[in-house]
Amino acid sequence: MNLFDVYPLNDIEITKASGSNVWDANEQKYLDLYGGHAVISIGHTHPHYVSRLTDQLNKVGFYSNSVKIPLQTQLAEKLGQVSGKKGYQLFLVNSGAEANENALKLASFYNGRKKVIAFTGAFHGRTSLAVAVTDNPKIVAPVNETENVIFLPFNNEVALEETFKAQGNEISAVIIEGIQGVGGIKEASKSFLQKIRSLCDEYNSVYIADSVQCGYGRTGLFYSHDYSGVEADVYTMAKGMGNGFPIGGISIAPKFKPWHGELGTTFGGNHLACAAALAVLEVMEQDNLMKNAEEVGNHLITELKKFEQVVEVRGRGLMIGIELPAELAHVKKELLFTHHIFTGEAKPNVIRLLPALNLTKAQADEFLRAFEKAVKGVGYKA
Ligand SMILES: Cc1ncc(COP(=O)(O)O)c(C=O)c1O
Repeated sequence: MNLFDVYPLNDIEITKASGSNVWDANEQKYLDLYGGHAVISIGHTHPHYVSRLTDQLNKVGFYSNSVKIPLQTQLAEKLGQVSGKKGYQLFLVNSGAEANENALKLASFYNGRKKVIAFTGAFHGRTSLAVAVTDNPKIVAPVNETENVIFLPFNNEVALEETFKAQGNEISAVIIEGIQGVGGIKEASKSFLQKIRSLCDEYNSVYIADSVQCGYGRTGLFYSHDYSGVEADVYTMAKGMGNGFPIGGISIAPKFKPWHGELGTTFGGNHLACAAALAVLEVMEQDNLMKNAEEVGNHLITELKKFEQVVEVRGRGLMIGIELPAELAHVKKELLFTHHIFTGEAKPNVIRLLPALNLTKAQADEFLRAFEKAVKGVGYKA
């Protein structure tokens, strides 16, 4: 049997990992500024995380949502506290797409409507409704196509207002990333998020904050959307939540009243997943990782802005996009294969940095030195 070949792969096998470093099968060490698509939040193989998961596995790894799982209650309590959303309710799933799928479904159950507003450049996942609100026709199969989604230009308040004026009573939800990740590290403006909040209030629509990539402390705030000073009705999360263990969740405002059977999942909220998520929050709190993300992120952004070769530096905290001119398109590969640094990308020419939240200043400086050589073409062979 062969693998279904959908991923373009780098010819690297990672066999060992610790903190913000990984090693390949030849013992070559790498600096990891990507965390496998923004997933590694507290560093690879963090000792507290490893011991909490190991202990849990030795007790009970899984049972379904047909019995009490006190770890879920502990997780809800801790998440409410760390995220500053104590009155919200938690529903646990397994991935980011599933979180968005359930958030959109919850909104539709809530107000009985069908239409959803999404934005140009958005990425919300690959399941049915999540991909329908994603702005990439290439990954939308005919079966996912729906007339219920309205795409509007990102950060355009006039277009948003006009759409609500024309059909506000049909709009179930507005879904938006606080900072678009796949779309190239583009931040929603404060006033745009405030406008979404006020229009959703006026028309009884649901404001869904997709925090799958930009959330979980990465920007220095728990949910990056909250820098606007207004709260969302539903926050979706995944990626950093389990530091690699698959878990996602939606944080739901108090006004939503659940009924038995409304949402459901077999694996969501299992014992091991909850142990992983609790370990992440414990480390984040104990080591003050949101503050570190803000400080090391600010340092990187300030230094990166000094490079004359860079078109633009965007982002906040440890979610950074470096836009390069076309002639420097090789820099990402150069960083990986010459300087042994993992980074991400967004089309056409943006390098994405999404490291663990405990990246040190020394590691950030190691990257900056390599980046300088790469953009100046030192040692580069075309
Ligand atoms: C903003 C955002 N939402 C949703 C998703 C989908 O998450 P998952 O791949 O866990 O389904 C992603 C994944 O990259 C994302 O960046």
